[in-house]
Amino acid sequence: MRPLSRLALRSFGSKGTPRQNSHHRAHQIQSSRSISSQEVFDRESKYGAHNYHPLPVALHKAEGACMWDVEGKRYYDFLSAYSAVNQGHCHPRIYKAMIDQAKTLTLTSRAFYSDVLGEFEEYLTKLFGYDKWLPMNTGVEGGETACKLARRWGYSSKKIPENSAKIIFAEGNFWGRTMSAISSSTDPVSYSGFGPFMPGFEVIPYDDLKALDKALADPNVCAFMVEPIQGEAGVVVPKDGYLRGVRELCTKHNVLWIADEVQTGLARTGKRLAVDHEGVRPDIVILGKALSGGFYPVSGVLSDDRVMLLIKPGEHGSTYGGNPLGARIGLAALKVLEEEKLAERAEKLGNILRDELRKLPNDIVTLVRGKGLLNAIVIDKNIDAMDICMKFRDEGLLAKPTHGHIIRLAPPLVISEEQLMESVEIMSKVISSYRK
Ligand SMILES: Cc1ncc(COP(=O)(O)O)c(C=O)c1O
Repeated sequence: MRPLSRLALRSFGSKGTPRQNSHHRAHQIQSSRSISSQEVFDRESKYGAHNYHPLPVALHKAEGACMWDVEGKRYYDFLSAYSAVNQGHCHPRIYKAMIDQAKTLTLTSRAFYSDVLGEFEEYLTKLFGYDKWLPMNTGVEGGETACKLARRWGYSSKKIPENSAKIIFAEGNFWGRTMSAISSSTDPVSYSGFGPFMPGFEVIPYDDLKALDKALADPNVCAFMVEPIQGEAGVVVPKDGYLRGVRELCTKHNVLWIADEVQTGLARTGKRLAVDHEGVRPDIVILGKALSGGFYPVSGVLSDDRVMLLIKPGEHGSTYGGNPLGARIGLAALKVLEEEKLAERAEKLGNILRDELRKLPNDIVTLVRGKGLLNAIVIDKNIDAMDICMKFRDEGLLAKPTHGHIIRLAPPLVISEEQLMESVEIMSKVISSYRK
C-alpha cells in the first residue's frame, strides 16, 4: 500500500480534520482487507453488463481533487466524472445539505408541492437570468426536454405544419444515449445497430456558420442544438465569434438556440456558462452534471415564458425531477460554485495548465486545447493514448482517452495550484518517457 504523500495530507488540511484523515486511513486498511482491485474488476465483469470499458482502477473514496483505490493508492482525478464534480469530491457543504434534506423529505413526486423546489427554481432563474426552470434528472433528459420544448414552440409559435418540425445538430455532438440522442449522433459506435432513428433531426458541420445559415433557412426548422465546446468529441473549441454568429443566425431565421451546457456549464470553462465567453444568451440552456456536484442526478432546462409556458400539465415530467432532495443538493451545489468563485479559479488554473502542457514534447503532444479547466491534449497517432493513461494511472493520475488519441484533462475546480503542478510533473514524466 502506498502511503498518503505529505502533499495530500497538507492539501486536505484545509477541509479534512486530522480526525477525518485518520478515519479515512482506517477505512482504507479495512477495505483493502475485504476486496482487491482485481476482485472488483472480476465481479463487475461477471455480474454487470459490458456497456463500459473502464480504466482498470477500483476506487473506494474521494475528496477534493483526489481519489483512492481499494488498496489505498492515491490519484489525482483529471476526469471529474465528466465534469460532474466541479465542486470537488464529497464537498462538505453539499454533503450536509443532502443529509439534512434526506432526514426531512426526499420525494413527493410532482403530484404535490414541496417547500424546496420553488426555492431552487428562484435561485437558478435569478442567477442565470431566465424566466423559468424545468427540472429533470440526467443530462440526456435535459436534452430530450429541450427538444420537446423546441418542437412545441415550432408548432405553436412558428406555425410549422404538424409533424414536420426539424432540429439541427452539429457533427460530433454528444448528449447521451437515449434513442433521440443517438439519432443525432455522428459516431457509429453510438448509433450502429439501434435504428430506426428519430425523424426530424439533421446534422451540419460544427463551427461552420455558413452551413448553419443555409440549414436554418428551411422554414420547418424549430431549433439548433449545440455544445458551446464539444466535450465528448475531444474538447473541440470553436473559433472566436462562432457563438455570437449562432445567436445572430438563430434570431435572423426565427429558430430557437438550444445550448447544451451539461458539460461546459457551471464554471468548468472559466465562466458560469461557456456562452458567457461571448456574452450571448441562448433561448434554452440545458444544465446537468455539476448541478449536484456529483451527489445525485439533477438536470433541467432554463428558458423564458414564451417557450416554457407552451408545455401544459401532464405533457412532460418525471417522477424524480424536481424532488426536494435533488433541489436542496442543487441549491447547495450552485452556492458552492458562486461563493467559492470556482469559475474564476477554473479560468486562472486553466491558463496555468495549458501553459505547462504546451511545454511537453510536441512530437508526442501535438496539440493542447481547451478553456478554463476543460482541456485536452492530442497525442501523436503512432502512440497509444490508452497506454499513456495507464502510465498516468501508475504514477497516480486518472484520465481517459476519447476518440483514441485525445486525452481530456479536466480536474475538479477546487484543485490547488500545488496539486496542479504535481499533476503536471506526473504527465511530463510519463509523456517524456515516449521520446525516441
Ligand atoms: C454535452 C453533454 N450533454 C449531455 C450529456 C448527457 O448527460 P447524462 O450522461 O447525465 O445523461 C453529456 C454526458 O456526457 C454531455 O457531455
